[in-house]
Amino acid sequence: MTLEHVTATRFVAPLREGGSMPGLVEADDLGTYVCKFRGAGQGLPVLVAEVIVSGLAEALGLRTPRLVTVDLTEPIARYEADEEVQDLLNASLGLNLGVDFLPGSFGFDAAFTVDPSYAARTIWLDAYVANVDRSWRNPNLLVWHGDVWLIDHGASLYFHHGWTNAVTDAGRFAEQPWSAEDHVLSAYLAQVGAVADDCAAAVTDDVLTEVVARVPDEWLVGPVGPEELRAAYVTFLTARRDGSRIWLPGRSAA
Ligand SMILES: Nc1ncnc2c1ncn2[C@@H]1O[C@H](COP(=O)(O)OP(=O)(O)OP(=O)(O)O)[C@@H](O)[C@H]1O
Ligand SMILES: [Mg+2]
Repeated sequence: MTLEHVTATRFVAPLREGGSMPGLVEADDLGTYVCKFRGAGQGLPVLVAEVIVSGLAEALGLRTPRLVTVDLTEPIARYEADEEVQDLLNASLGLNLGVDFLPGSFGFDAAFTVDPSYAARTIWLDAYVANVDRSWRNPNLLVWHGDVWLIDHGASLYFHHGWTNAVTDAGRFAEQPWSAEDHVLSAYLAQVGAVADDCAAAVTDDVLTEVVARVPDEWLVGPVGPEELRAAYVTFLTARRDGSRIWLPGRSAA
C-alpha cells in the first residue's frame, strides 16, 4: 500500500512553533495538511521515520493523523514574501509529507486525563522506536475531539542518520536503551508491563513489511537502493522487537 498522493495548491502559512518549520498547505483534494518539507535541514530520514512510526502507531491502535505525499510544484512559492520560507519551498520541489491537519486541536497538558492503556501503549511505541521527542517541553501530542493524537515521529529511528557510507549493524539498535525519564506520560510507566506483550505481538512481520513499503522511493536515499533500505528498516525493527528488550521501561533496571 502506498500513501495517497496530492498536489499542493496553496501555501497557507508557516507553522513557526515547529523546529523544522512545517507549513500549512491546501491540496487539490480540498484537504489541508501540515506539510513537512523534504528540503528542511533534518533531511529525508525524518520523513521516513514519520511514515514508519505512524504506521506502527496505527498497528498499536494509537491515533495519529492520516499521511499523504504532497507534490510541490513551482508556482506555489510565488506569493510567499518571507525569504526563509521561500528558500525552503524552493528546496522542496517534488515529494513532501502531508499530515492531515486537525483543526481546533490543542497541545496536550497535565490537566487532560488519558486512558492508562493508551498511555502505556504510547510509551511502549516511543521506547520501541527510540523516540526522544515526547517530553513535557515538547509533548507532540494533540487533543482533538476529546482524544489524544500522536504527531511528530521524526525524532525516532535515529540509527538511519548513521547510514552514510553503509547500513550499520542492527544489533546495536536492538539493544539500545531508552530513557523514560522526561516522557510526558511517565506517570503511566507502571502500566507498560501489562501491555508490552500485546504491543510486541501487534508488530508482526507483515505489519513491518507493509508499513515500510509505504515509504516512497524518493525518500529512501542512502548507501544502497530503496529496496535494500526498506529491508534494512525491517531487519532493525525486527531485531529490536525480538531482542532482549532492554529498552522496555521497567525491564532495563533488572
Ligand atoms: N496534524 C496537525 N494538526 C494540527 N496541528 C498540527 C498538526 N501537526 C503539527 N501541528 C502543530 O504544529 C506544531 C509543529 O509540528 P511538529 O511537531 O510536527 O513539527 P516539528 O518541526 O517536527 O516540531 P518540533 O521538532 O519542534 O517538535 C505542533 O506542535 C502542533 O502545534
Ligand atoms: Mg513537534
